[in-house]
Amino acid sequence: MSPMLEGKVVVITGAESGIGRAVSLRCAAEGAHLALAGLVEEGLRETAQLAGEDAATITVPTDIRDADQVDALFAATVKEFGRLDAAFANAGGAMRTPSELADSDLDIWKQMVETNLTGTFITLRAAARILIDQGEGGSLIATGSSTAIRPIATAPLAYMAAKAGVHQLMRALTLEMAQHNIRVNTLVPGGSATPPVLAIENYAEKNFGTVPMKALVDPDELAAIVAFALSDQAPHMTGTLLKVDAGRTSV
Ligand SMILES: NC(=O)c1ccc[n+]([C@@H]2O[C@H](COP(=O)([O-])OP(=O)(O)OC[C@H]3O[C@@H](n4cnc5c(N)ncnc54)[C@H](O)[C@@H]3O)[C@@H](O)[C@H]2O)c1
Repeated sequence: MSPMLEGKVVVITGAESGIGRAVSLRCAAEGAHLALAGLVEEGLRETAQLAGEDAATITVPTDIRDADQVDALFAATVKEFGRLDAAFANAGGAMRTPSELADSDLDIWKQMVETNLTGTFITLRAAARILIDQGEGGSLIATGSSTAIRPIATAPLAYMAAKAGVHQLMRALTLEMAQHNIRVNTLVPGGSATPPVLAIENYAEKNFGTVPMKALVDPDELAAIVAFALSDQAPHMTGTLLKVDAGRTSV
């Protein structure tokens, strides 16, 4: 059986760490050509190295909050590989800040919405412009969060609200993009074993109360789902929440 993503050109944001890195490595193993984007250049280079010498990768330091940088990322991708097939708009995260409304800081609210929601919008817009222009369909996946479906008391309000915005953005885009044969799906991780989560002291004690399987998700498990959803093996998978959350949002 040939690799699932042979020759597919995929842009991945947040590729220097965690879920983005795991997805990058899986997509590379499946034969994709990758543009690895994110804030931390050294981390992007490390991901490219881990993908191996046979992998076709470029690294493009990019702040997804800056539309010019994101447009330049997609232009560099098309220049290098000649086309675009898919984007995984994954960059984001929560800042450490009080989770209560009365104690919330407006600047931190704005920063989290800008990264998680506006940055995702900017990334998807740049990808859609190219995919629509090419006229051959494509695939868009954004990373949401289980906290957008089932809030937790310890997460910042801005993060949960921004991720809920991502879920609804993807839902709305499913309608618009269908006419272009562009599929739109949302990865919904529960707590996953990535650097920011592993850095939280007593994570299990604080969070496993709401998790039926009482486990963190391995980013490689998320990567397998994303690779499948990006591939031609899922031609009618669109408008889907790809929930991998150890049961968190089902109870
Ligand atoms: N790990 C979890 O438990 C979990 C759960 C639900 C959702 N998520 C989401 O998954 C995604 C990946 O998170 P992760 O856990 O792998 O964390 P991570 O910190 O390992 O990876 C996130 C990456 O995004 C990059 N990034 C942040 N802001 C950026 C910006 N403005 N421009 C470009 N890149 C930027 C960071 O540099 C980082 O490498 C995030 O959107 C996060 O909100 C994670």
